[in-house]
Formats: sequence, structure tokens, C-alpha cells
Amino acid sequence: MSERDQSRLKAADIRRSPGVSYQKLLDADTRPVPAHLRIDTAAFLGDHDIPVERYIDPKFHELEKEKLWPKVWQVALLEERIPEVGDADVYEINDISIMLVRVAPDEIKGYYNACLHMGRNLIDRPCNKAEIRFPYHGFTWRIDGKLKHIPGMWDFPHVDPQEMNLPEVKVALWNGFVFINMDPNCEPLETYLGEAYSHWDNYSLADRYTAVHVCKVISCNWKVGQEAFMDAFHLVASHPQILAAAGDDNTQYDIFGNCSRAITPAGTPSPHLNWTPTENEIAANVYKPRDSTGGVEVPEGMTYRQHGAQVGREELREVIGDKADGLCDSEVMDSFYYTLFPNFHPYLAYNQVLQRFKPYGDRHDMCTMEVMYLSPFKGERPPPAKPTFLGPDESFLDAHELGAAGALISQDEWNLEKVQKGLHTLRVNKPGITMGIYQHTQVRHFHNIYERYLGLDR
Ligand SMILES: [Fe+2]
Repeated sequence: MSERDQSRLKAADIRRSPGVSYQKLLDADTRPVPAHLRIDTAAFLGDHDIPVERYIDPKFHELEKEKLWPKVWQVALLEERIPEVGDADVYEINDISIMLVRVAPDEIKGYYNACLHMGRNLIDRPCNKAEIRFPYHGFTWRIDGKLKHIPGMWDFPHVDPQEMNLPEVKVALWNGFVFINMDPNCEPLETYLGEAYSHWDNYSLADRYTAVHVCKVISCNWKVGQEAFMDAFHLVASHPQILAAAGDDNTQYDIFGNCSRAITPAGTPSPHLNWTPTENEIAANVYKPRDSTGGVEVPEGMTYRQHGAQVGREELREVIGDKADGLCDSEVMDSFYYTLFPNFHPYLAYNQVLQRFKPYGDRHDMCTMEVMYLSPFKGERPPPAKPTFLGPDESFLDAHELGAAGALISQDEWNLEKVQKGLHTLRVNKPGITMGIYQHTQVRHFHNIYERYLGLDR
């Protein structure tokens, strides 16, 4: 029996929360529901603790630098950042710098961003290059990576020009994102993403633009940062203001190869509530980052989910036209948080949000957290928003462009540095953190893949 079959078998024993399940809500949807939302993969991924060392011990940072980051597909940037031939930008992960260059209208290449002569970074910032000229001594490459010129070639008779082309990394484009992989023998991105590769087919992220981009350096390990968003279990304590309108414990968790997702239904009350909200009370408490379907008056005889979805479709119609009519209630209303291993979190449908976490510089105890809104547009593509970099004394609440999401994200952010500090103390008495079996599916799934990459025995 395959591992997958075994995990499905055990899934029959997985407990699910009281309250209306996501699949039951889909049964009541006013529109046909796409097949990928009908998948319910509940899988038993173990009940073991996750070792604290992975978050606080620099040894794991070094292992990640050796065995994870040089071997895994990762998002470097959005295609819209380098739209013209010759446009180049930099992606940095730990102590490695990669230069991405658009070499043709439909082709982007990635090079290690270091001159083969003296090692200086070839570029430091976004630019447009007809050729790549090393600013220190003038070694020059064509944008396709072929060596063009060595100044004073008479003094380099020992150098074979054929050996001096810029070393490349693998590049793959998906949904407007530029992925890189430093492993020349890596599997194609399509098989790496597997089943989830096509989940965005109907939502075309490539046809969106970066409307908002907010970054902050946080004093916690990158895994501590992203795991704060991988479950809806934290809503009851961290975001109590939205419980009347969020089915936190009724979140559905799924795994697909190297990807996972959490679907948190909106417009349905939390099982934690000890009172029953009316449809208008649900509407008043709903959290919607990018539209105004919250707070609407619900007509007699309708649920907030039905009415909010209709209002949302009308708003979307202004931008995406009649396609909005084909979206089911869930696609308009619910939260779809995906994790594409290791660190990329695009939301599905028209949630418009995406997040990325990565180590800050070469630090194991600091990370960069990015929140972006990828919004549909009408007419000519707007330029991508310039990133806002929050200072150490600012929170996501200070990034007014985030709208309602700023308050929620700042509630999540508030815990992160305290978790990082607390893990050192926890280790004195307990070697691991204790996770739920179902509600921490995304965290468990992440760590199972992480163990595979790092070659760890549990
Ligand atoms: Fe949260």
C-alpha cells in the first residue's frame, strides 16, 4: 500500500471540528463549484512534536544553506518587475545572489550574480542592460551570459573564453512568477508543484499587478514567521474580533505533493462562539482585505455568504467583466492560504494576497516577511507598487495601503519575536513544540518535506 493510501486510510480516524464543514458550505453554494475545491485530502501526518532546534540553532540554518536552498524551487521575483528585454533584477537568499535578466520577450535567464574575474556582484539593483559590464575592471558579458570582452586579453592567455560564460541557474515561469532552482538536475517546476500547479488556471495571476507590497524584517526564524499563518487554530486567541464571521475550526486542510492549503470559510460563525450571530452580525464582523463586502445589509431570506458573494461578484465585474458571474460563493468569500514549499504563499481565487518569508541576510534568527496584493486590472497594466519597507518600530498596521488586513497581520506579527525568544526557554524543559493532528496539517506537511531535504531522522 502506498504512503498516500496509508495516510488516507488513517484520515478516516482524523477528528474534525463541530460546526458546518467547508464541504457542507459548498453544498449550499449558489453556483457550480470547481472540482479542485471539492477535494478533501485529510491526511494523517503524525502526532510527533516538532524539534525546537530547527528554529533556534544556527546549525539548522547551515544545513538549510547546504541542502535546502540550493536544491529547491523558490520564487525569485514577479515577471512584471523585468518587463523589457535587458531588464535585470537581483534575488538574494542567505549569502547567495542571483541576477535575473529578461533576454527575450518570452525568456528570462538567471545567473549567479558574481563576476568570474574578481567576484564582485555584477549588478546591485534593478536596471536595464544591453550588456553586463563588470563595473570594477570591465569584463563584459552579453545578456545571454556569453563572454563578450576581457580588457587586456594579452595578460590572460591562460583563460579560455569558453569557460568564462556566466554560470546559470534553472528558471521557470508560472503565473507571472519567476522561480529559480540552483540544482542543475532538479525536476521540472510543473512536476514539483504537481496537482496544485493547475489550481490557479481560472484565476490567472499573470494578469494581475502588484497593487501593494509591504516588507518588514522581523527578529524570528523564517519558519516561525510563516507558521504563524499556516493554521486557523490561532484565530480564537489572536483575532477574536472576527469570530462571528470566520469558521476558524472548520478550516479544511489539504496536501498536494510539495504544496498544502488551508481553506477558511468566511461568513459562517466560529464553533468557539457561545452565541449565535444573525446574518447582519456576521456581515458586521467579517474580515475582507480587498473588497467592501463586509458590513453590507443582508436582505431578508438570504444568508450573508450568498449576499456577500453577490456583492463581491458585482465589484469584481467592474474589473474582470462577465467572468465574475461564473465564480461560486466560496471563490468570492473564503480564504485560500496555500504553501508552495518552502516559503511561498499565494492565496487562491480573488483573495489577492500573497506572502513570502525568507532568512534576512545570512541570519538564522531574523527573517524578511513580505505581504503583497496581486490585483486584477482593467485596460493597460499599471506599474507594480514600490515596496514599503517598515522600520523596526513600525508594524503592518502602519502600512495603510494594506487596509483591513493591516490590523490582522499586526496581531500575528506581535507574537513572532516573542515566540523566537520563548523557544530558547522552552528547550530547557521540552525539546519540541506540540502540534494538533489536523489543524496543523500545513506545519506538519512542511516539516515532513523539510526533513526529506535536510536528510533528518525524526
Ligand atoms: Fe492570523
